[in-house]
Amino acid sequence: MRGFHQLLSFFLLGTTLSLGSPSTHSFKNRETIVAPRGWTRQTVAPADHIISLRIGLHQRNFDLLEKHLYEVSDPTHSRYGEHLSKEEVEDLVAPHSNSLSAVDEWLSEFNLKEDDIARSPAKDWVVLTIPVSLAEKMLNTKYYVWKHGKTGNELVRTTSYSLPSHLDSHIEVVQPTTMFGQFKPAKSMISILETVDTAVNTAISKVAQIITGGNSNLTVDASCNTTITVTCLQQIYNAVGYVPSNSTKNSIGITGYLEQFANIEDLQTFYVAQVPAAVNSSFKFESVAGGINDQSLTKAGSEANLDVQFAFGVAYPIPGTFWSTAGRPPFSADVRTLTNTNEPYGDWLDHVLGLPDPPHSISTSYGDDEQTVPKDYAKRVCAGLAQLGVRGVSVIFSSGDYGVGDGNSDPATQECITNDGLNNTRFIPAFPASCPYVTSVGGTEHIPEVAVSRFYSGGGFSSYFPRPPYQEIAVGGFLSTLPKGLYEGLFNRCGIPDVAAQGDRYRIRYRGRDVSIGGTSASSPAFTGFVALLNDARISVNKRPLGFLNPLLYTAGIAGLNDITSGSNPGCGTNGFNATTGWDPVTGLGTPNFKQLKEIVTSPFLLL
Ligand SMILES: *[C@@H]1O[C@H](CO)[C@@H](O)[C@H](O)[C@H]1NC(C)=O
Ligand SMILES: *[C@@H]1O[C@H](CO)[C@@H](O)[C@H](O)[C@H]1NC(C)=O
Ligand SMILES: *[C@@H]1O[C@H](CO)[C@@H](O)[C@H](O)[C@H]1NC(C)=O
Ligand SMILES: *[C@@H]1O[C@H](CO)[C@@H](O)[C@H](O)[C@H]1NC(C)=O
Ligand SMILES: *[C@@H]1O[C@H](CO)[C@@H](O)[C@H](O)[C@H]1NC(C)=O
Ligand SMILES: *[C@@H]1O[C@H](CO)[C@@H](O)[C@H](O)[C@H]1NC(C)=O
Repeated sequence: MRGFHQLLSFFLLGTTLSLGSPSTHSFKNRETIVAPRGWTRQTVAPADHIISLRIGLHQRNFDLLEKHLYEVSDPTHSRYGEHLSKEEVEDLVAPHSNSLSAVDEWLSEFNLKEDDIARSPAKDWVVLTIPVSLAEKMLNTKYYVWKHGKTGNELVRTTSYSLPSHLDSHIEVVQPTTMFGQFKPAKSMISILETVDTAVNTAISKVAQIITGGNSNLTVDASCNTTITVTCLQQIYNAVGYVPSNSTKNSIGITGYLEQFANIEDLQTFYVAQVPAAVNSSFKFESVAGGINDQSLTKAGSEANLDVQFAFGVAYPIPGTFWSTAGRPPFSADVRTLTNTNEPYGDWLDHVLGLPDPPHSISTSYGDDEQTVPKDYAKRVCAGLAQLGVRGVSVIFSSGDYGVGDGNSDPATQECITNDGLNNTRFIPAFPASCPYVTSVGGTEHIPEVAVSRFYSGGGFSSYFPRPPYQEIAVGGFLSTLPKGLYEGLFNRCGIPDVAAQGDRYRIRYRGRDVSIGGTSASSPAFTGFVALLNDARISVNKRPLGFLNPLLYTAGIAGLNDITSGSNPGCGTNGFNATTGWDPVTGLGTPNFKQLKEIVTSPFLLL
């Protein structure tokens, strides 16, 4: 951001600036909230504290973009696979020129020039790096330092903000204002980590087992019931013997946040043990918003290592990318530097939407409790994920851990209470898993597969997003099996997850040790590895990559998924939901049968 230093000198060194006459505007309140549970107000925010303010301009044609998304992702539609270009997508979400000029005029009242601001590729986001005192004038508000009782985390936030009335229709959201997210791995993170005996590791017994639950009989090593390796996933998901092409057209991406670094030395040791052909291969590293790539072994992240080892291990030799998006340092009142405490998807989306050729499949194992992400902002992040889908990217997220509750491992302190001041008890789904334009992946375990039981598969229904059309039949079918009146009021919304994959006892390499690890954190990269292989099969017969998967999965894809019908996802003091025949909010439609899915997605008889 070129203007950053300029602004610092103006404001921090006390140079007086003419701030125009913003007081002549009449303001319209945009949002007023009760501070979410657990947060207490401390002092007023220091006037010279620098924040990174993201202003979301109204996207002119998002409805049309959504229509394109559903058409090009629907295997029965004549436009299936006709993904849009970067330019076509940007044209659809670009703000109206009136919105751009109204906002520019407003910014110029505060002497903010083009050099002082950053814009997303479609110009639908404006990012200002400014002192709190200026944000307060622009938004007619007062920021405070807030502290979370349990974690001690501090944030600079407000509970209410306004915009000049004439900008009301031009701006959809401004953050950070009212977003009190807990910027830590609330969900979908490593749930267990135990050093395992490497001697046991090598003593894999080759006892043939029969999988039931799918449409085929498969031979699986007996050890896979207690230790998941890349070979186990190939066996369980019927991909043994598939040799990916050497196409450089295909690619797979893994996101990393919260200073999770993917260690290359660990990856090599993992490959020696589990994917010998991949030894000496690595991934491409991309930094987002200053994210770093610390390769010291002691800085390896368990989540990052799990994600790259299994996604890239399953997909080898498909080229992999790992993004490190800068973490959010805790607010520190005495440090006059930028503290970007925004929820990080915005920065990552700006980066990846700016790429001419983003990877065809992308896995993310991070999330927030949906209710801690303000709805306006969640909708915009979700709209950004739709933009990737319509360009032909399969966007895949873990569904979260610990069942229908929040992502807290301790059931005694699991909070299932609404943040809106009313303190209602409610299930707490994870975001972005709840976004209807992504594929969310729940967890299973064992052979035959059942819903994962140690941390429980995140699942349920969004409180923000309506049920998408592709879920009508599947989710409707599940709801008809629920006892009458149970969990009333939850059911008009988007169901989570869409699919599932093994989610416990993964053998990974971490800081020079073999460890066992679990959570839907593992399910998403594993599932994404097989999606990359399906794209490989399609590219080999000159078909387009799969892109947004759900309209396919809920129709022709069902025949290529193993329905999981046993287990549940308790939480919030309830028994949660049961895995059932057909879709359920524990394991979705089920786990992949690669060879069947491959037949489906390469069939010359389907429009696909
Ligand atoms: C699976 O194997 C069993 C026992 O050999 C056999 O009866 C059954 O027909 C097979 N099922 C399929 C789908 O091949
Ligand atoms: C894949 O392609 C690269 C470059 O085109 C080549 O160097 C390599 O040997 C190929 N590998 C296989 C397994 O065909
Ligand atoms: C990997 O690289 C090392 C060092 O260059 C080499 O000794 C080894 O043979 C390579 N292994 C494979 C499987 O390519
Ligand atoms: C909700 O809970 C908070 C924190 O325990 C409490 O301060 C507040 O009064 C409660 N509100 C209602 C409506 O019960
Ligand atoms: C795998 O382990 C589970 C749980 O202990 C058990 O119920 C199941 O029978 C085992 N599967 C096989 C094939 O041994
Ligand atoms: C789950 O199954 C149990 C046992 O069959 C049943 O008692 C319970 O009502 C079911 N729960 C739901 C949410 O369907």
